[in-house]
Amino acid sequence: MSKGLRKGLTSYGDAGFSLFLRKAFIKAAGYSDDALDRPIVGITDTASDFNPCHGNVPALIEAAKRGVMLAGAMPMVFPTISIHESFAHPTSMFLRNLMAMETEEMIRAQPMDAVIVIGGCDKTLPAQIMAAASADLPTVVIPTGPMVVGHHKGEVLGACTDCRRLWSAHRAGQLDAAEIAAVEGRLAPSVGTCMVMGTASTMACITETLGLSLPMSATIPAPHAERIRLAEASGRRAAEMAVSGGPRPSALLTPDAFRNAQVVLQAIGGSTNGLIHLTAIANRTPHRIDLDAFDRLGRAVPVLVDLKPSGEHYMEHFHHAGGVPKLMAQLGDLIDLDAGTVAGGTLRDVVAAAEDVPGQDVIRPRDNPIKPLGAMAVLRGNLAPRGAVIKHSAASPALLQHEGRAVVFASIPDMTARIDDPDLDVGPDDVLVLQNAGPKGAPGMPEAGYLPIPKKILATGVKDMVRISDARMSGTAFGTIVLHVTPESADGGPLGLVRTGDRIRLDTAGRRIDLLVEPAELERRRSEAGPAERPAWAARGYSRLLYETVEQADEGCDFGFMRATPEAG
Ligand code: FES
Ligand code: MG
Repeated sequence: MSKGLRKGLTSYGDAGFSLFLRKAFIKAAGYSDDALDRPIVGITDTASDFNPCHGNVPALIEAAKRGVMLAGAMPMVFPTISIHESFAHPTSMFLRNLMAMETEEMIRAQPMDAVIVIGGCDKTLPAQIMAAASADLPTVVIPTGPMVVGHHKGEVLGACTDCRRLWSAHRAGQLDAAEIAAVEGRLAPSVGTCMVMGTASTMACITETLGLSLPMSATIPAPHAERIRLAEASGRRAAEMAVSGGPRPSALLTPDAFRNAQVVLQAIGGSTNGLIHLTAIANRTPHRIDLDAFDRLGRAVPVLVDLKPSGEHYMEHFHHAGGVPKLMAQLGDLIDLDAGTVAGGTLRDVVAAAEDVPGQDVIRPRDNPIKPLGAMAVLRGNLAPRGAVIKHSAASPALLQHEGRAVVFASIPDMTARIDDPDLDVGPDDVLVLQNAGPKGAPGMPEAGYLPIPKKILATGVKDMVRISDARMSGTAFGTIVLHVTPESADGGPLGLVRTGDRIRLDTAGRRIDLLVEPAELERRRSEAGPAERPAWAARGYSRLLYETVEQADEGCDFGFMRATPEAG
């Protein structure tokens, strides 16, 4: 196959003329023939003033370019969109598939022999890996890396597990305006991604486990010199891959690699979002993620990594304890070491090189886990026929088996308007239910699943209640929270039929979530509601594309037409 600038020539007449045109235009930027006559490594630029999680991207690009050139290839940087959690209206998830489509098409459209994607903030790595899986060009992922921790009055702070905890304390009157303002300046003390085991850290660990990034790439703090050297090394590897033509994502994203990723997702106490993203990535390949198999893995895989929100430490401590290679070493036979990596060999080489750090207590051995079971369980029942997810590692043990009266909010605005109403009829044993917050309902499946505890209940000292929704939850949140109820209420799911006063039973041990209402009564409510109509926000453009084609949470929330054909048999 043609390499470098000759790759994918469109024909404006003959091939020679097309290449002549390309060269004529690119020479406008001052390139020499020597530079242009080399294999090309594309590098995505996702730096944005709206994305502090990517604040180190310019430095990572510089280093990656250096690595590419030291190995004799030619780096070409190109922009793609950038998504930050807090600056993506209506939600970052709404935009994930747009970023995946755009990145895939720009990799296809431009002449490159390998590509480096640099991302980090929650939805970016999933979008880039979905794109890479579909484009199937040799790809090296460079995560931007986690922030270092913050400090406040002798206490270590983490974005954004402590954001919620401290804001709740402020709401309960325990933290005054001046102190919450001080905290605001200390929660995110550097560029990089949230340094707890939120979605960004989860996806960086999954990326490393899938072999799509170099060893230790998930955990090196964003501001550290080591991360710059990692970017340089990634550039070198990408240049080698541009010449050799592999490994391609299709060679790395095998059933064993996906199984390893699910093991690591459970063992790190990972974000529930990780399951949706991994499902979407798998659907871009011939392989699939099976929710029941994932649940079975969760019964075999303990949580070994002691990080917030399930545990105590932060990403930099995970790094200094040996990172993902050490975790895979501790997981032993739960990891298939024959899986390949962009580093060149297999995970066996990665694990063999894992550092032994005496006295570290962040990555536990299997006989002394943080939690004996994995982080997440998959629930089913008449309330969630196609499944729901609970992160029981971050829940209150006493609430995992619970029956209570439903207090229903029909939408996020309804919840916001009434949750703190002193007249709201709610008690600590009730179950808070949020409807219409799924992939189509909100839209974009916001992280609204962490319903705030009503102020008047908080004031009594109660910190957790059972909460159920078709929304997602930030990977940094804590509580007894049932998420991703599928099908969602806006797509005819039974969650939409719940009324205040109904009884709901959560049976985490039995993996059930049930609405204790007679089927005939549910049928009556369903016929009363009638069929859903397309909402005004979905009248045109990307919103309409999303509304009409987005899949449900159990299928990864990608657009249905982006899937690859599944494996036969
Ligand atoms: Fe970007 Fe948390 S806001 S990773
Ligand atoms: Mg997040």
